Amino acid sequence: MIRKCLFPAAGYGTRFLPATKAMPKEMLPILTKPLIQYGVEEALEAGCQNIAIVTGRGKRSIEDHFDINYELEHQINGTSKEALLQSIRTLTNSCSFSYTRQNEMRGLGHAILTGETLIGCEPFGVILADDLCSNPNAQGVLAQMVNLYKKYHCSIVAIESVQPNDVDKYGIIEGSLIEEGVYRVTNMVEKPSIDQAPSNLAIIGRYILTPDIFDILRVTKPGKGGEIQITDALLEQAKKGSVLAYQFQGKRYDCGSIDGYVQATMDFYHLTSKQNLS
Ligand code: G1P
Repeated sequence: MIRKCLFPAAGYGTRFLPATKAMPKEMLPILTKPLIQYGVEEALEAGCQNIAIVTGRGKRSIEDHFDINYELEHQINGTSKEALLQSIRTLTNSCSFSYTRQNEMRGLGHAILTGETLIGCEPFGVILADDLCSNPNAQGVLAQMVNLYKKYHCSIVAIESVQPNDVDKYGIIEGSLIEEGVYRVTNMVEKPSIDQAPSNLAIIGRYILTPDIFDILRVTKPGKGGEIQITDALLEQAKKGSVLAYQFQGKRYDCGSIDGYVQATMDFYHLTSKQNLS
């Protein structure tokens, strides 16, 4: 039902300099897998086999990652190392990948609009790869949202409660509870100050968007930070009652920050060593 998932991946990742000087932030690994691979796995689990990536200058290694490396694969063919490529082979065999470049950084809304050429006129998922989500032994966050989409057929943002002094890092929603963990959004504000925030329910990097968002984005004026914000475009849909906010099951790591990145690395390490022991 949702066949395509868009990955805005043109940002600079300045918080991880110098690591991200010549390497895309989406390629930073948590253990042995790059962040964007976790995102693509989550998209595939949700039924999205069309992976659309908005890249930019210096991001070519993302394309190489989701392609075959004949020389390497020939070298390790038939050795014990071959198993290490299994997870990425599953993705390259199951998904199609398409790319477009964003040549100016004008915000997340602009990045999503740049992806229109890959998405066309159908509802689609959006994953921000530096928000790494895990829900061990249960459904991933995007799959949970796709289930909700099947019932409501409108745009959906994933949310979680944050500390009041962190509201200025996120899009914040206000809404009325319509079923457990699901709000109909009545207002949303991009990175408000603590006294302007309508709640402490923060949008994390998972969205399902209906395609009318593109027409809205085309006329959305630059907002917070002078950038075209997806939050502002979604507010236009919300005014018509067509945006839900979903308190997802699972854990999110802000891998765009050093703290979140280290926490994810430790948790994934412990999880993997437990799985290897059992
Ligand atoms: C973007 C969105 C923001 C959202 C956040 C989730 O901000 O603009 O509304 O809460 O992603 O990670 P960014 O982190 O790109 O500044």
